[in-house]
Amino acid sequence: MTPRSCLAIVLAAGEGTRMRSARPKVLHQVAGQSLLAHVLAAVGKSGVTATAVVIGPGQDAVGDEVTRACPDAAIFVQHERRGTAHAVLAAKAAIARQPDAILVLYGDTPLIRPATLERLCAALAEGAAIAVLGFRPADPAGYGRLIMAGDELVAIREEADASAGERKIDLCNGGIMALAGASALAILERIGNHNRKGEFYLTDAVEIARSMALRCVAIEIEEDDVRGINTKSQLAEAETVAQQRLRQAALEAGVTLIAPDTVHLCPDTKFGRDVVVEPYVVFGEKVTVEDGAVIHSFSHLVGAHVGKGVSVGPFARLRPGTQLGEGSRIGNFVEIKAAVIEAGAKANHLSYIGDASVGANANIGAGTITCNYDGSDKHRTAIGKDAFIGSNSALVAPVEIGDGAYIASGSVITANVPAHALALARARQVIKEGWAARLRGLKSLGKKKARSRD
Ligand code: UD1
Ligand code: CA
Repeated sequence: MTPRSCLAIVLAAGEGTRMRSARPKVLHQVAGQSLLAHVLAAVGKSGVTATAVVIGPGQDAVGDEVTRACPDAAIFVQHERRGTAHAVLAAKAAIARQPDAILVLYGDTPLIRPATLERLCAALAEGAAIAVLGFRPADPAGYGRLIMAGDELVAIREEADASAGERKIDLCNGGIMALAGASALAILERIGNHNRKGEFYLTDAVEIARSMALRCVAIEIEEDDVRGINTKSQLAEAETVAQQRLRQAALEAGVTLIAPDTVHLCPDTKFGRDVVVEPYVVFGEKVTVEDGAVIHSFSHLVGAHVGKGVSVGPFARLRPGTQLGEGSRIGNFVEIKAAVIEAGAKANHLSYIGDASVGANANIGAGTITCNYDGSDKHRTAIGKDAFIGSNSALVAPVEIGDGAYIASGSVITANVPAHALALARARQVIKEGWAARLRGLKSLGKKKARSRD
């Protein structure tokens, strides 16, 4: 059971130097979304009633990502990096509103699941003042150790401050903590910095709570939930876990993934019934695939809506703003951007359709290009229903092709074409009878002369 009001505080003030990147750590991506967006999504699905994110000074890009991913979240700045408890207190104004529970999470643990957060909050509802997530990592080095007495948590010891005996404990602090709202502020404000690193450790909250005769517990979970990202190789490991979870969810929802391990998904990828995804397909953010569609191999989709029974690829690229109507067909080496393709229309080979609308049952011939960019501005191309665009045509936008119009192959169309008209915009073919034979004759004469001079 989740307490009535729950404040989540996400700590994201770290610099992430070990990523060796100019980008703030929490903005690196797993499954097409930032680490921070994953944490905020899990928080959003766990019954939390208010969210605060603590960022570092000058981290405007992190603030922007918070606002994008969770517009209701309050942003607090930790001006100096003085430890995890100090970071939590940067959000003191939110804590002072006395929520029933406070969840503290790290912005660099993207695989945390809502159900795990709910388990933590449930422990508070059962009377604990503090609940933490424990796990047994393959290599405990670097983690705080959980010191237990029966089923009560007695203390969390940071590795730098742990005795040789304490370091042998394999149950480690996953870092995510739930605190009962009634006692949280009193506990947090008593945390000092008398330790090896001279930092204010959130983990000291446990011993302080016990000194106030309050109960603390640990909930053991699997490592994946609390996998923290500090390096690029940990980022890659998290990607593997995230993709396995997404593929499993897609399979369970009835999607046919012929080679699941080769398909990359996004948490927001949506599938209808009886969708088939062939090997080696990448889904970026905001893709919806409706019933019965087939996505053939080596296709790349971002921000696209694929209608019922549509066929995409192989080797198709669908960019943001693509909308494919029922039964349309987008074939190999076709790129679509910000374009509506109505039902039954076809672009089967080697095309670029950008900033365009294509009417129902129109046929876009191989090699057709919408010339949407004039070097400074983008312009639109409108193609009517049942239009036939001959192969290798260039449609120079802004331009309109009427319903049922016919564009001759190889045309460069710069003016609107009325409905049901034919437009021819290419040089007329010239025939010179016997020309090739005469050329060959001249060439062989030249070679004989050269040989006679040798
Ligand atoms: C922390 C825990 C440790 C636990 C481990 C799990 C403490 C003292 N230790 O250690 O017990 O096993 O996580 O991964 O909490 N942050 C700030 N401001 C600060 C300091 C940290 O925002 O002043 C943020 C960081 O950006 C990061 C999180 O807090 O997201 C954790 O800080 P980090 O320094 O990585 O803690 P660990 O040493 O890994
Ligand atoms: Ca860490």
